Amino acid sequence: MPIRVAVVGAGAISREQHLPSLAALGDRVEVVGIADVAPDAARALADTWGVARSYGDARKMIAAERPDLVTLATPPIAHRGDAIAALEAGAWVLSEKPPTLSLAEYDEVAAHEREGGPYAAYIFQHRFGSAAVRLRELVADGSLGRPLVALCDTLWFRDPSYFAVPWRGKWATEGGGPTMGHGVHQMDMLLSLLGDWTDVSAQMSTLARDTEAEDVSLAHVRFANGALCSVVNSLLSPRETSRVRIDFERASVEVEHLYGYDNAHWTWTPAPGVPLEEAATWAPVDDVPSSSHAPVFAHVVACMERGERPVTSGAGGRRVMELAAGMYASALSGRAVAHDELAPGTPFHAAMAGPDPRAATARIHAGTIRGGKVADPHL
Ligand SMILES: NC(=O)c1ccc[n+]([C@@H]2O[C@H](COP(=O)([O-])OP(=O)(O)OC[C@H]3O[C@@H](n4cnc5c(N)ncnc54)[C@H](O)[C@@H]3O)[C@@H](O)[C@H]2O)c1
Repeated sequence: MPIRVAVVGAGAISREQHLPSLAALGDRVEVVGIADVAPDAARALADTWGVARSYGDARKMIAAERPDLVTLATPPIAHRGDAIAALEAGAWVLSEKPPTLSLAEYDEVAAHEREGGPYAAYIFQHRFGSAAVRLRELVADGSLGRPLVALCDTLWFRDPSYFAVPWRGKWATEGGGPTMGHGVHQMDMLLSLLGDWTDVSAQMSTLARDTEAEDVSLAHVRFANGALCSVVNSLLSPRETSRVRIDFERASVEVEHLYGYDNAHWTWTPAPGVPLEEAATWAPVDDVPSSSHAPVFAHVVACMERGERPVTSGAGGRRVMELAAGMYASALSGRAVAHDELAPGTPFHAAMAGPDPRAATARIHAGTIRGGKVADPHL
């Protein structure tokens, strides 16, 4: 029996990734419905992919179709409610990033999971490319020695018109700026390699775009294993690039790409004294790229078939939300923040903007020049 899938959202990412990734799974899945608040968009996408039924309401679709899996390709504000509705109906969830608007919402969704499934998993496709998979193996077996220094740069360019889409760059609908919406991919891959962090010191500003949240964020992060990392997320960088570099005791490993990598984007540089024959065994044999959602969908469907938790679910999906919350907490409070300070009941567990979103906006807008004026740095 195929896994019956219902797709929520018929916009860009649904069209470009969700439906093609489901089609690539062949007869292991059957798409039984597509829902969008714009019913015409749902109908048009359903017609394109030969899906029988379309809906203008995700909850009605879940109730009518009783799907095994619900994929969420909607703006972040819609993720929490539909994920909970799906889990309560017994369906697994595969949601777009950022998972939710806050750690509190993340935990609320997770509380509706059950042992053995259904689980809610999130789409962080950069973890699934062959080189990241191989590097995780080498980190786990100690081949590269201790990780010491890391860089994680997401330097992208979004022109002013990008922010005309109403849900973008707002605390209430996207949860934040590039920390939540863009750098989150690379930060997630970094965390899958380096594990838990212990403290973070961050700065954020809204330097050049008319947006409520930040358009640039920087952080220094200390990991539990001792490694130190710098993180930069920008939407203001005309020469766009995405880069993660980790210097281990025995090698520097680096990937530089834009919106997706394959093996050719990675360099593996042995430290002096490491035998070249050994370094030659580091690179991956397969070459699964990270530019497609297909490996994530394949992983979740395989987990459903086995009744296992997907890797980007539970603690595995939460870690990057913890780092984002820590970065906002540090940037908005003006001090270093320890991981332990983000426990349930604390302000930055409840919301990325903390207790007062208007004050958060005033703080990251302060001291920046826009429209020829310098905003008051004392706000
Ligand atoms: N993984 C990636 O690489 C990647 C890339 C781009 C976007 N995304 C994420 O995908 C999500 C959607 O982004 P997009 O670019 O496709 O946006 P989009 O605006 O093109 O599409 C969103 C669609 O969702 C619909 N919608 C909004 N609220 C809804 C609701 N409550 N129920 C049903 N439908 C609803 C809209 O009508 C629209 O058709 C966002 O969370 C975004 O961050 C992920």
